[in-house]
Amino acid sequence: MSSAVDIERESSRLFSQLKNVSLRPGAKWTPDDCRVVAPYTLEINRLKKEKDAFILAHSYTNPEIMYGVADAVGDSYGLSLAASKVKQKTIIFAGVWFMAETAKIINPSKTVLIPGGRAGCTLADSMTGEDLLNFKKKHPGAPVLCYINSTADVKAQSDVCVTSANVVKIAAKMPGDKIIFVPDMLMAQNLTGMLHAQGVKKEIVYTGGSCCVHDKYITDNVKSMRDKYPGIKILIHPEASPDVCALCDYVGGTEGTLKYVAESKDKTFGLLTEIGLVNRLEHDNPDKTFIWERGTCAYMKKNTLFNTLQALTEPAERQIVTVEKKTARAALKCINKMFEMSR
Ligand code: 13P
Ligand code: SF4
Repeated sequence: MSSAVDIERESSRLFSQLKNVSLRPGAKWTPDDCRVVAPYTLEINRLKKEKDAFILAHSYTNPEIMYGVADAVGDSYGLSLAASKVKQKTIIFAGVWFMAETAKIINPSKTVLIPGGRAGCTLADSMTGEDLLNFKKKHPGAPVLCYINSTADVKAQSDVCVTSANVVKIAAKMPGDKIIFVPDMLMAQNLTGMLHAQGVKKEIVYTGGSCCVHDKYITDNVKSMRDKYPGIKILIHPEASPDVCALCDYVGGTEGTLKYVAESKDKTFGLLTEIGLVNRLEHDNPDKTFIWERGTCAYMKKNTLFNTLQALTEPAERQIVTVEKKTARAALKCINKMFEMSR
């Protein structure tokens, strides 16, 4: 059996080879590219059965993970639901830390491993449970919605968890006229507008940070796409700034974006989002053209075939997901409330 060091070395060797492979779109790999990837794909799929493991992958991970070894691919909401139903002994979560942590909270009897180790997220890392406690003191009595891109500590201090797929629906159902929303300050601003558009008036008070991928988009990105491609439909994630979202044709999470494109009669789409989703859209819609404005989540890309193999054979400490019991119990309440309210 290879040691962790061997696997890491092999991982960086393959990763540098994969850098020369056209990852966009994954479907355009050459036979040589496939020959590089195939042995690892086959070995992971064999080991999955032997070790009784199930692989969940977010749509922002690399195509060789999504298409080669994952048992389920989806957005934060879909993957949380999928995690709750896993029967196998081990969940391998190719995503970022808060996603794997959520899976562990939802299905605590499973061993949960994250190939990329402590792959962060600028949103989840923007706020601690203590920060939220202090913010709550400034708005006594206001219910707290936390975006799923948050730590277990923040979830434990919140009333209901939300994702991009259900944030408007759940916010509209919350009692009272004021809501605390954390930790995505741009999504909080978008939420105010999206609720108003539905005739729901609520004050959203917020604190936290922003997504380092989606907060980079500016209004000029939209304008220059429209100038170059008249009639283009432009899609963006609600983690982007409201002034940019206001100029787009669709604002929604990853599953919503896939659905919009699949159902649309239009042929050309502008994407202000992460490359992994672009890969999926191109794969699923070969008759449509996608114009992409750069955006890559380095945290999601930390998951490779090699560290997936490592997690399956000899998981390193940093790949094993644990959540303190009391925190997990409180966080589970807030996640279960989301499942209940999004039905
Ligand atoms: P989705 O739930 O829309 O997949 O979003 C997750 C995320 O991290 C987007 O940046
Ligand atoms: Fe976090 Fe942004 Fe990466 Fe999503 S894309 S995981 S919000 S840093």
